[in-house]
Amino acid sequence: MAPLSSALLLVALGAGRVLSSPLAEPAIAAPAVTAAPSLDNALQKRASCTFSGSGGASSASKSQASCATIVLSNVAVPSGTTLDLSDLEDGTHVIFEGTTTWGYKEWSGPLLQIKGKDITIEGASGSVLDGDGARWWDGEGGNGGVTKPKFFAAHSLTGSSSITNLNIKNTPVQAVSINGCEGLTVTDMTIDNSAGDSGGGHNTDGFDIGSSSGVTITGAKVYNQDDCVAVNSGTDIVFSGGLCSGGHGLSIGSVGGRSDNTVDNVTFKDSTITKSTNGLRIKAVAGATGTINGVTYSGITLSSISKYGILIEQNYDGGDLHGDPTSGVPITDLTISSITGSSGVTSSGYNVVIVCGDGACSNWTWSGVSVSGGKSYGECQNVPSVASC
Ligand SMILES: *[C@@H]1O[C@H](CO)[C@@H](O)[C@H](O)[C@H]1NC(C)=O
Ligand SMILES: *[C@@H]1O[C@H](CO)[C@@H](O)[C@H](O)[C@H]1NC(C)=O
Repeated sequence: MAPLSSALLLVALGAGRVLSSPLAEPAIAAPAVTAAPSLDNALQKRASCTFSGSGGASSASKSQASCATIVLSNVAVPSGTTLDLSDLEDGTHVIFEGTTTWGYKEWSGPLLQIKGKDITIEGASGSVLDGDGARWWDGEGGNGGVTKPKFFAAHSLTGSSSITNLNIKNTPVQAVSINGCEGLTVTDMTIDNSAGDSGGGHNTDGFDIGSSSGVTITGAKVYNQDDCVAVNSGTDIVFSGGLCSGGHGLSIGSVGGRSDNTVDNVTFKDSTITKSTNGLRIKAVAGATGTINGVTYSGITLSSISKYGILIEQNYDGGDLHGDPTSGVPITDLTISSITGSSGVTSSGYNVVIVCGDGACSNWTWSGVSVSGGKSYGECQNVPSVASC
């Protein structure tokens, strides 16, 4: 077994020398390389590949299906192109090392795309994926100005896929889109767009989640200027141990008007939201149909929330609290528990706002909610009896 793995290692590294070890003296190991019998193609195929520099992205895309491990080391992705790893073999390991950068172009992106089954994606210590978003930021985000590329399409990651320790900085607009994923764990991701607070960052959503199931995000830190997390559709989703700063809080929705309008079994827990427009927000689109069932917010601490500590609305129309609430997207089996933030809302904001359509909010659990500092909203409607508004 030892001689075979030594030979494989040498082939994989393309190196001509092995470090001496008590078990493999160079005199024996070196000839083993040249004399190695033809290796099984499948084994050869599953090599470890390292790509770097300005040609690294296109080489990685071309060779992706033949590498078991892909190391992206200081890759400089040319302008107007995607670092595209959407044709990976099952079980591929992708490692980012050093600084990954992208050239400037006005286009819609994405700058990075990874897809596959049982994929392990990892950021090496000290690595950063630097979008250098300031080149696009004009305060208009996706609503106007220059066309800005979306950053990371984490689409169709299935089986038992994971993303660990990824450090993302300054995305031009939305950061991470999770769509069509079934079985994805995201651990200790940092999305730091804090430079956009004064630098014109807008619509820099942290995580946008749609049509996915079994997604667990743990230990994320998001500094941005839009939703920290927005779940537009999906089931069995957990966000825990997170920090959201600078943005629009932890959101469900908006739900309604898309091809998939079902949100079921989504939990946000043990997280902190600070310096944000909203804390918790559930947005059902007025006049639309869909389902928001089994959502839980628990163990959330709010501070410096400027508009709404908790906002649950069935009259969203692209803007909050517009017109009469409707009942086509019922909000059922909702749990809001242990939400704390004494003086968590600034004095011009509202602590809790609930605007439901007739009979459209039911079977709620509401406990340990202590959000203060702001005003009370005079126009709450159809509030379930357990809740207070
Ligand atoms: C809700 O989702 C979590 C996380 O995926 C899962 O462990 C749990 O079994 C789901 N609950 C139901 C009732 O399906
Ligand atoms: C009410 O909601 C809880 C979850 O919060 C759920 O377990 C229960 O089945 C729901 N009851 C009804 C009658 O829908």
